[in-house]
Amino acid sequence: MRIQTIRGFRDILSEEAGKWRYVEDTAREVLDWFGFKEVRLPILEKTSLFARSIGENTDIVEKEMYTFTDKSGDSLTLRPEATASMVRMFIQHSLYGQPKAAKLFTIGPMFRRERPQKGRYRQFWQVDAEMFGFTHPLADAEIINVVDTILKKLVVPDYEIHLNSLGCQNCRKAFKKALQLYLEDKYNELCPDCQRRYKSNPLRVFDCKIATCKEALKDAPLITDYLCSECQTHFDTLQSYLSHLGIAFTLNPYLVRGLDYYTKTTFEVIIPGIGAQNAVAGGGRYDNLIKELGGKSTPAIGFAIGMERLIPCVPDSIPQKRPIFLALLGAEAVKLGLIWAKALREGGIWTEIDYRLGSLKSQLNRANRLQAAFTLIIGEDEIKNGKAILRNMDTKEQINIPVAPEQGLNIVLKILGREKVGRD
Ligand code: HAM
Repeated sequence: MRIQTIRGFRDILSEEAGKWRYVEDTAREVLDWFGFKEVRLPILEKTSLFARSIGENTDIVEKEMYTFTDKSGDSLTLRPEATASMVRMFIQHSLYGQPKAAKLFTIGPMFRRERPQKGRYRQFWQVDAEMFGFTHPLADAEIINVVDTILKKLVVPDYEIHLNSLGCQNCRKAFKKALQLYLEDKYNELCPDCQRRYKSNPLRVFDCKIATCKEALKDAPLITDYLCSECQTHFDTLQSYLSHLGIAFTLNPYLVRGLDYYTKTTFEVIIPGIGAQNAVAGGGRYDNLIKELGGKSTPAIGFAIGMERLIPCVPDSIPQKRPIFLALLGAEAVKLGLIWAKALREGGIWTEIDYRLGSLKSQLNRANRLQAAFTLIIGEDEIKNGKAILRNMDTKEQINIPVAPEQGLNIVLKILGREKVGRD
Protein backbone atom coordinates (compact mmCIF):
# COMPACT_ATOMS: atom_id res chain seq x y z
CA MET A 1 0.00 0.00 0.00
CA ARG A 2 1.21 3.52 -0.78
CA ILE A 3 2.07 5.54 2.29
CA GLN A 4 0.22 8.86 2.51
CA THR A 5 0.35 11.87 4.84
CA ILE A 6 -1.38 11.56 8.23
CA ARG A 7 -4.91 13.04 8.51
CA GLY A 8 -4.73 16.79 9.14
CA PHE A 9 -1.11 16.99 7.97
CA ARG A 10 -0.20 18.13 4.46
CA ASP A 11 2.58 18.77 1.99
CA ILE A 12 3.15 22.26 0.71
CA LEU A 13 4.25 21.84 -2.89
CA SER A 14 6.63 24.22 -4.60
CA GLU A 15 3.99 26.40 -6.34
CA GLU A 16 2.37 27.13 -2.97
CA ALA A 17 5.66 27.29 -1.07
CA GLY A 18 6.67 30.34 -3.15
CA LYS A 19 3.71 32.24 -1.70
CA TRP A 20 4.54 30.99 1.80
CA ARG A 21 8.05 32.36 1.44
CA TYR A 22 6.72 35.71 0.26
CA VAL A 23 4.28 35.94 3.20
CA GLU A 24 6.95 34.90 5.72
CA ASP A 25 9.45 37.38 4.24
CA THR A 26 6.85 40.15 4.45
CA ALA A 27 6.03 39.30 8.08
CA ARG A 28 9.77 39.23 8.93
CA GLU A 29 10.28 42.59 7.21
CA VAL A 30 7.45 44.27 9.13
CA LEU A 31 8.59 42.72 12.43
CA ASP A 32 12.07 44.11 11.68
CA TRP A 33 10.61 47.60 11.27
CA PHE A 34 9.12 47.30 14.76
CA GLY A 35 12.39 45.96 16.20
CA PHE A 36 11.31 42.35 16.86
CA LYS A 37 14.18 39.82 16.92
CA GLU A 38 13.74 36.28 15.61
CA VAL A 39 14.24 33.22 17.82
CA ARG A 40 13.95 29.50 17.03
CA LEU A 41 12.48 27.18 19.59
CA PRO A 42 12.11 23.40 20.03
CA ILE A 43 8.96 21.77 18.72
CA LEU A 44 8.90 19.31 21.64
CA GLU A 45 8.50 20.48 25.25
CA LYS A 46 7.57 18.98 28.61
CA THR A 47 3.80 18.46 28.76
CA SER A 48 3.53 20.36 32.05
CA LEU A 49 4.63 23.58 30.30
CA PHE A 50 1.45 23.62 28.21
CA ALA A 51 -0.84 22.25 30.93
CA ARG A 52 0.28 24.99 33.32
CA SER A 53 0.20 27.87 30.82
CA ILE A 54 -2.66 27.20 28.40
CA GLY A 55 -4.73 25.74 31.26
CA GLU A 56 -5.84 22.24 32.31
CA ASN A 57 -9.48 22.96 31.45
CA THR A 58 -9.00 24.22 27.91
CA ASP A 59 -9.90 22.28 24.75
CA ILE A 60 -6.25 22.37 23.69
CA VAL A 61 -4.94 20.68 26.84
CA GLU A 62 -7.94 18.42 27.45
CA LYS A 63 -8.34 17.04 23.94
CA GLU A 64 -5.92 18.31 21.35
CA MET A 65 -2.33 17.75 22.38
CA TYR A 66 0.02 15.22 20.80
CA THR A 67 1.45 13.83 24.03
CA PHE A 68 3.59 10.75 24.54
CA THR A 69 5.85 9.27 27.17
CA ASP A 70 9.49 9.41 26.18
CA LYS A 71 11.73 6.38 26.81
CA SER A 72 13.11 8.27 29.81
CA GLY A 73 9.59 8.32 31.28
CA ASP A 74 9.03 12.08 30.72
CA SER A 75 5.70 13.19 29.33
CA LEU A 76 6.44 15.26 26.21
CA THR A 77 4.13 17.22 23.90
CA LEU A 78 4.41 18.58 20.38
CA ARG A 79 3.85 22.31 20.94
CA PRO A 80 0.25 23.37 20.26
CA GLU A 81 1.29 27.06 20.28
CA ALA A 82 4.45 29.12 20.76
CA THR A 83 3.69 31.50 23.64
CA ALA A 84 4.35 28.94 26.37
CA SER A 85 7.71 28.04 24.81
CA MET A 86 8.60 31.72 24.40
CA VAL A 87 7.90 32.28 28.09
CA ARG A 88 9.87 29.14 29.06
CA MET A 89 12.81 30.43 27.01
CA PHE A 90 12.52 33.93 28.52
CA ILE A 91 12.66 32.54 32.06
CA GLN A 92 15.28 29.86 31.35
CA HIS A 93 17.74 32.36 29.83
CA SER A 94 16.85 35.09 32.34
CA LEU A 95 16.14 37.65 29.61
CA TYR A 96 14.52 40.17 32.00
CA GLY A 97 15.16 43.79 31.10
CA GLN A 98 17.40 42.99 28.12
CA PRO A 99 16.43 45.42 25.34
CA LYS A 100 17.11 42.84 22.62
CA ALA A 101 14.80 40.31 24.29
CA ALA A 102 11.90 42.71 24.82
CA LYS A 103 10.37 42.01 21.40
CA LEU A 104 10.74 38.51 20.00
CA PHE A 105 9.16 36.47 17.24
CA THR A 106 9.29 32.98 15.83
CA ILE A 107 7.82 31.24 12.79
CA GLY A 108 7.15 27.53 12.80
CA PRO A 109 4.75 24.59 12.92
CA MET A 110 2.30 23.95 15.79
CA PHE A 111 0.30 20.77 16.43
CA ARG A 112 -3.29 20.38 17.63
CA ARG A 113 -5.34 17.23 17.22
CA GLU A 114 -8.52 19.04 16.17
CA ARG A 115 -11.07 17.74 13.68
CA PRO A 116 -9.57 18.67 10.31
CA GLN A 117 -11.60 20.92 8.03
CA LYS A 118 -11.02 23.87 5.70
CA GLY A 119 -8.55 26.19 7.47
CA ARG A 120 -8.03 23.74 10.33
CA TYR A 121 -5.14 21.31 10.31
CA ARG A 122 -3.37 19.16 12.86
CA GLN A 123 -0.05 20.65 11.85
CA PHE A 124 -0.28 24.35 11.08
CA TRP A 125 2.15 27.25 11.01
CA GLN A 126 2.16 30.40 13.05
CA VAL A 127 4.02 33.68 12.95
CA ASP A 128 4.18 34.33 16.68
CA ALA A 129 5.39 37.60 18.25
CA GLU A 130 5.67 38.53 21.92
CA MET A 131 6.61 41.69 23.88
CA PHE A 132 8.00 41.31 27.38
CA GLY A 133 8.19 43.86 30.19
CA PHE A 134 5.65 46.55 29.29
CA THR A 135 2.48 47.31 31.23
CA HIS A 136 1.45 50.43 29.31
CA PRO A 137 -1.38 50.09 26.73
CA LEU A 138 1.06 51.58 24.21
CA ALA A 139 2.54 48.05 23.96
CA ASP A 140 -0.95 46.63 23.26
CA ALA A 141 -1.43 49.24 20.52
CA GLU A 142 1.99 48.40 19.02
CA ILE A 143 1.19 44.65 18.96
CA ILE A 144 -2.11 45.23 17.16
CA ASN A 145 -0.35 47.73 14.89
CA VAL A 146 2.20 45.04 13.88
CA VAL A 147 -0.59 42.63 12.86
CA ASP A 148 -2.44 45.39 11.01
CA THR A 149 0.74 46.49 9.18
CA ILE A 150 1.53 42.91 8.08
CA LEU A 151 -2.02 42.44 6.75
CA LYS A 152 -1.98 45.81 4.98
CA LYS A 153 1.44 45.12 3.41
CA LEU A 154 0.05 41.79 2.13
CA VAL A 155 -3.04 43.63 0.79
CA VAL A 156 -5.39 41.26 2.68
CA PRO A 157 -8.95 42.48 2.05
CA ASP A 158 -11.89 42.81 4.46
CA TYR A 159 -10.38 41.82 7.78
CA GLU A 160 -11.90 42.85 11.09
CA ILE A 161 -10.07 43.32 14.37
CA HIS A 162 -12.21 42.14 17.28
CA LEU A 163 -11.19 43.55 20.64
CA ASN A 164 -12.02 42.76 24.26
CA SER A 165 -10.63 43.07 27.75
CA LEU A 166 -10.69 40.15 30.17
CA GLY A 167 -9.60 42.34 33.07
CA CYS A 168 -7.18 41.37 35.81
CA GLN A 169 -7.55 38.71 38.51
CA ASN A 170 -9.66 41.09 40.61
CA CYS A 171 -12.22 41.93 37.94
CA ARG A 172 -12.24 38.30 36.86
CA LYS A 173 -13.10 37.11 40.38
CA ALA A 174 -16.26 39.25 40.55
CA PHE A 175 -17.18 38.33 36.99
CA LYS A 176 -16.68 34.60 37.58
CA LYS A 177 -19.05 34.76 40.55
CA ALA A 178 -21.72 36.59 38.52
CA LEU A 179 -21.34 34.21 35.60
CA GLN A 180 -21.59 31.12 37.80
CA LEU A 181 -24.72 32.52 39.39
CA TYR A 182 -26.20 33.08 35.93
CA LEU A 183 -25.16 29.63 34.67
CA GLU A 184 -26.65 27.91 37.72
CA ASP A 185 -30.11 28.63 36.31
CA LYS A 186 -29.09 27.46 32.85
CA TYR A 187 -27.28 24.32 34.04
CA ASN A 188 -29.65 21.83 32.38
CA GLU A 189 -29.38 23.61 29.02
CA LEU A 190 -25.59 23.26 28.95
CA CYS A 191 -23.69 20.46 27.19
CA PRO A 192 -21.82 17.98 29.45
CA ASP A 193 -18.49 19.77 28.77
CA CYS A 194 -19.94 23.14 29.78
CA GLN A 195 -21.66 21.62 32.84
CA ARG A 196 -18.23 20.50 33.97
CA ARG A 197 -16.59 23.83 33.10
CA TYR A 198 -19.30 25.87 34.77
CA LYS A 199 -17.67 24.99 38.10
CA SER A 200 -13.98 24.76 37.24
CA ASN A 201 -13.54 27.43 34.60
CA PRO A 202 -16.84 29.16 33.67
CA LEU A 203 -15.21 31.59 31.21
CA ARG A 204 -14.56 28.63 28.90
CA VAL A 205 -18.33 28.24 28.41
CA PHE A 206 -18.08 31.22 26.03
CA ASP A 207 -15.84 29.09 23.75
CA CYS A 208 -18.50 26.42 23.23
CA LYS A 209 -19.73 26.12 19.65
CA ILE A 210 -22.89 24.14 20.55
CA ALA A 211 -26.07 26.06 19.67
CA THR A 212 -27.91 25.33 22.95
CA CYS A 213 -24.95 26.60 24.98
CA LYS A 214 -24.73 29.74 22.81
CA GLU A 215 -28.46 30.29 23.35
CA ALA A 216 -28.07 29.78 27.11
CA LEU A 217 -25.40 32.51 27.18
CA LYS A 218 -27.57 35.08 25.38
CA ASP A 219 -28.21 37.21 28.48
CA ALA A 220 -25.07 36.24 30.39
CA PRO A 221 -23.16 38.94 32.26
CA LEU A 222 -20.28 40.44 30.26
CA ILE A 223 -16.70 40.78 31.51
CA THR A 224 -16.53 44.38 30.28
CA ASP A 225 -19.18 45.32 32.85
CA TYR A 226 -16.88 44.06 35.61
CA LEU A 227 -13.61 45.82 34.76
CA CYS A 228 -11.90 47.61 37.66
CA SER A 229 -10.96 51.23 37.08
CA GLU A 230 -7.34 50.40 36.19
CA CYS A 231 -8.37 47.80 33.60
CA GLN A 232 -11.05 50.12 32.22
CA THR A 233 -8.53 52.96 31.80
CA HIS A 234 -6.08 50.56 30.13
CA PHE A 235 -8.80 49.41 27.72
CA ASP A 236 -9.98 52.98 26.98
CA THR A 237 -6.42 54.19 26.36
CA LEU A 238 -5.73 51.30 23.98
CA GLN A 239 -8.90 52.10 22.03
CA SER A 240 -7.94 55.77 21.81
CA TYR A 241 -4.47 54.84 20.43
CA LEU A 242 -5.96 52.51 17.82
CA SER A 243 -8.43 55.18 16.71
CA HIS A 244 -5.60 57.69 16.56
CA LEU A 245 -3.66 55.29 14.29
CA GLY A 246 -6.72 54.82 12.08
CA ILE A 247 -6.91 51.11 12.92
CA ALA A 248 -10.58 50.07 12.85
CA PHE A 249 -11.76 47.61 15.50
CA THR A 250 -14.98 46.05 16.73
CA LEU A 251 -15.62 45.61 20.44
CA ASN A 252 -16.59 42.01 21.14
CA PRO A 253 -17.30 41.30 24.83
CA TYR A 254 -17.69 37.56 24.05
CA LEU A 255 -14.09 37.21 22.89
CA VAL A 256 -12.56 35.13 25.72
CA ARG A 257 -10.02 33.18 23.56
CA GLY A 258 -9.28 29.49 23.99
CA LEU A 259 -6.26 29.83 26.28
CA ASP A 260 -6.37 30.57 30.00
CA TYR A 261 -3.36 32.85 30.37
CA TYR A 262 -4.90 36.10 29.16
CA THR A 263 -5.38 39.23 31.26
CA LYS A 264 -6.78 42.58 30.07
CA THR A 265 -6.52 42.95 26.27
CA THR A 266 -7.53 40.12 23.95
CA PHE A 267 -8.07 40.39 20.19
CA GLU A 268 -8.68 38.34 17.10
CA VAL A 269 -8.48 39.14 13.42
CA ILE A 270 -11.48 37.71 11.59
CA ILE A 271 -12.06 37.49 7.85
CA PRO A 272 -15.78 36.89 7.34
CA GLY A 273 -16.48 34.79 4.28
CA ILE A 274 -13.49 32.44 4.40
CA GLY A 275 -15.46 29.65 6.10
CA ALA A 276 -16.08 28.46 9.64
CA GLN A 277 -12.39 28.85 10.58
CA ASN A 278 -12.23 32.56 9.97
CA ALA A 279 -9.81 33.72 12.70
CA VAL A 280 -6.52 34.44 10.94
CA ALA A 281 -4.79 35.81 14.02
CA GLY A 282 -5.30 36.02 17.75
CA GLY A 283 -3.51 37.41 20.72
CA GLY A 284 -3.59 39.33 23.95
CA ARG A 285 -1.92 40.32 27.18
CA TYR A 286 -0.76 37.78 29.75
CA ASP A 287 0.67 39.69 32.68
CA ASN A 288 0.72 36.77 35.16
CA LEU A 289 2.06 33.90 33.08
CA ILE A 290 5.80 34.45 33.53
CA LYS A 291 5.37 34.51 37.33
CA GLU A 292 3.03 31.50 37.23
CA LEU A 293 5.70 29.54 35.35
CA GLY A 294 8.28 30.33 38.02
CA GLY A 295 9.80 33.52 36.60
CA LYS A 296 9.98 37.07 37.95
CA SER A 297 6.74 38.96 37.56
CA THR A 298 6.89 40.42 34.02
CA PRO A 299 3.98 41.73 31.95
CA ALA A 300 3.72 40.48 28.37
CA ILE A 301 1.57 40.67 25.27
CA GLY A 302 1.67 38.93 21.91
CA PHE A 303 -0.12 37.51 18.91
CA ALA A 304 0.01 34.63 16.47
CA ILE A 305 -1.04 34.66 12.83
CA GLY A 306 -2.17 31.34 11.31
CA MET A 307 -0.37 30.89 7.97
CA GLU A 308 -2.82 28.35 6.48
CA ARG A 309 -5.70 30.80 6.99
CA LEU A 310 -3.81 33.92 5.98
CA ILE A 311 -2.18 32.68 2.76
CA PRO A 312 -5.40 32.03 0.75
CA CYS A 313 -6.46 35.62 1.59
CA VAL A 314 -3.27 37.15 0.17
CA PRO A 315 -3.83 38.25 -3.45
CA ASP A 316 -1.65 36.43 -6.01
CA SER A 317 0.35 39.42 -7.15
CA ILE A 318 3.82 38.16 -6.33
CA PRO A 319 6.11 39.06 -9.24
CA GLN A 320 7.08 35.79 -10.94
CA LYS A 321 10.79 35.23 -11.31
CA ARG A 322 12.00 33.79 -14.60
CA PRO A 323 15.29 32.03 -15.30
CA ILE A 324 17.91 32.35 -18.03
CA PHE A 325 18.41 29.02 -19.77
CA LEU A 326 21.70 27.77 -21.18
CA ALA A 327 21.30 25.64 -24.33
CA LEU A 328 24.60 23.83 -24.71
CA LEU A 329 25.56 21.71 -27.73
CA GLY A 330 28.78 19.68 -27.65
CA ALA A 331 31.38 18.85 -25.00
CA GLU A 332 33.26 22.18 -25.27
CA ALA A 333 30.02 24.14 -24.99
CA VAL A 334 29.06 22.22 -21.85
CA LYS A 335 32.36 23.16 -20.19
CA LEU A 336 32.00 26.80 -21.19
CA GLY A 337 28.34 26.70 -20.12
CA LEU A 338 29.36 25.59 -16.63
CA ILE A 339 31.53 28.70 -16.29
CA TRP A 340 28.68 30.88 -17.61
CA ALA A 341 26.26 29.33 -15.13
CA LYS A 342 28.66 29.85 -12.22
CA ALA A 343 29.21 33.50 -13.14
CA LEU A 344 25.51 34.23 -13.71
CA ARG A 345 24.49 32.56 -10.42
CA GLU A 346 27.18 34.49 -8.57
CA GLY A 347 25.62 37.57 -10.17
CA GLY A 348 22.32 36.63 -8.50
CA ILE A 349 20.66 35.24 -11.63
CA TRP A 350 18.49 32.11 -11.61
CA THR A 351 20.22 29.98 -14.24
CA GLU A 352 19.00 26.66 -15.67
CA ILE A 353 20.84 24.01 -17.68
CA ASP A 354 19.23 21.05 -19.44
CA TYR A 355 21.03 18.16 -17.77
CA ARG A 356 19.82 15.79 -20.51
CA LEU A 357 21.79 17.81 -23.12
CA GLY A 358 19.42 16.89 -25.97
CA SER A 359 18.99 18.58 -29.36
CA LEU A 360 18.65 22.36 -29.62
CA LYS A 361 14.93 21.91 -30.23
CA SER A 362 14.45 19.85 -27.06
CA GLN A 363 16.57 22.28 -25.03
CA LEU A 364 14.49 25.25 -26.26
CA ASN A 365 11.34 23.28 -25.40
CA ARG A 366 12.65 22.79 -21.90
CA ALA A 367 13.49 26.53 -21.67
CA ASN A 368 9.88 27.32 -22.63
CA ARG A 369 8.50 24.90 -20.05
CA LEU A 370 10.58 26.62 -17.39
CA GLN A 371 9.27 29.96 -18.69
CA ALA A 372 12.80 31.19 -19.26
CA ALA A 373 12.98 34.84 -20.27
CA PHE A 374 16.20 34.33 -22.25
CA THR A 375 18.19 31.41 -23.62
CA LEU A 376 21.91 31.64 -24.15
CA ILE A 377 22.78 29.26 -27.02
CA ILE A 378 26.34 27.94 -27.24
CA GLY A 379 27.37 25.28 -29.80
CA GLU A 380 30.53 24.40 -31.73
CA ASP A 381 29.96 27.19 -34.30
CA GLU A 382 29.43 29.79 -31.59
CA ILE A 383 32.67 28.79 -29.91
CA LYS A 384 34.50 28.93 -33.26
CA ASN A 385 33.05 32.40 -34.07
CA GLY A 386 33.51 33.69 -30.53
CA LYS A 387 29.83 34.71 -30.47
CA ALA A 388 27.06 33.12 -28.44
CA ILE A 389 23.38 33.72 -29.22
CA LEU A 390 21.11 35.36 -26.65
CA ARG A 391 17.49 34.64 -27.52
CA ASN A 392 14.61 36.61 -26.01
CA MET A 393 12.06 33.84 -25.47
CA ASP A 394 9.06 36.19 -25.65
CA THR A 395 9.95 38.21 -28.77
CA LYS A 396 12.16 35.46 -30.34
CA GLU A 397 14.65 38.26 -31.10
CA GLN A 398 18.28 37.03 -31.09
CA ILE A 399 21.49 38.98 -30.58
CA ASN A 400 25.13 37.97 -30.57
CA ILE A 401 27.26 38.42 -27.50
CA PRO A 402 30.87 37.39 -26.83
CA VAL A 403 30.99 33.68 -26.06
CA ALA A 404 33.67 34.12 -23.39
CA PRO A 405 32.08 34.93 -20.04
CA GLU A 406 34.86 37.43 -19.25
CA GLN A 407 33.63 39.61 -22.12
CA GLY A 408 29.99 38.61 -22.34
CA LEU A 409 28.86 38.43 -18.71
CA ASN A 410 28.41 42.14 -18.06
CA ILE A 411 26.47 42.57 -21.29
CA VAL A 412 24.09 39.74 -20.31
CA LEU A 413 23.76 41.03 -16.72
CA LYS A 414 22.90 44.46 -18.07
CA ILE A 415 20.21 43.06 -20.37
CA LEU A 416 18.78 40.88 -17.58
CA GLY A 417 18.89 43.80 -15.14
CA ARG A 418 16.99 45.95 -17.59
CA GLU A 419 14.42 43.21 -18.05
CA LYS A 420 14.38 42.56 -14.26
CA VAL A 421 14.79 38.87 -14.85
CA GLY A 422 15.74 36.44 -12.16
CA ARG A 423 16.87 39.07 -9.68
CA ASP A 424 15.32 39.84 -6.30
P1 HAM B 1 -4.69 30.90 18.86
O1 HAM B 1 -5.88 31.79 18.68
O2 HAM B 1 -4.91 29.59 19.49
O3 HAM B 1 -3.63 31.73 19.70
O4 HAM B 1 -3.98 30.67 17.47
C1 HAM B 1 -3.59 31.77 16.66
C2 HAM B 1 -3.96 31.50 15.22
O5 HAM B 1 -3.41 30.25 14.79
C3 HAM B 1 -5.45 31.36 14.96
O6 HAM B 1 -6.06 32.63 14.84
C4 HAM B 1 -5.45 30.60 13.65
O7 HAM B 1 -5.24 31.48 12.56
C5 HAM B 1 -4.24 29.69 13.78
N1 HAM B 1 -4.67 28.34 14.15
C6 HAM B 1 -4.98 27.87 15.37
N2 HAM B 1 -5.32 26.56 15.31
C7 HAM B 1 -5.23 26.20 14.02
C8 HAM B 1 -5.44 24.98 13.30
N3 HAM B 1 -5.80 23.84 13.91
N4 HAM B 1 -5.26 24.98 11.95
C9 HAM B 1 -4.87 26.11 11.31
N5 HAM B 1 -4.64 27.28 11.94
C10 HAM B 1 -4.82 27.33 13.27
C11 HAM B 1 -2.42 31.26 20.07
O8 HAM B 1 -1.90 30.28 19.63
C12 HAM B 1 -1.68 32.18 21.02
N6 HAM B 1 -0.40 31.56 21.36
C13 HAM B 1 -1.49 33.56 20.41
C14 HAM B 1 -0.75 34.49 21.31
C15 HAM B 1 0.54 34.84 21.21
N7 HAM B 1 -1.25 35.10 22.37
C16 HAM B 1 -0.32 35.81 22.95
N8 HAM B 1 0.79 35.67 22.27
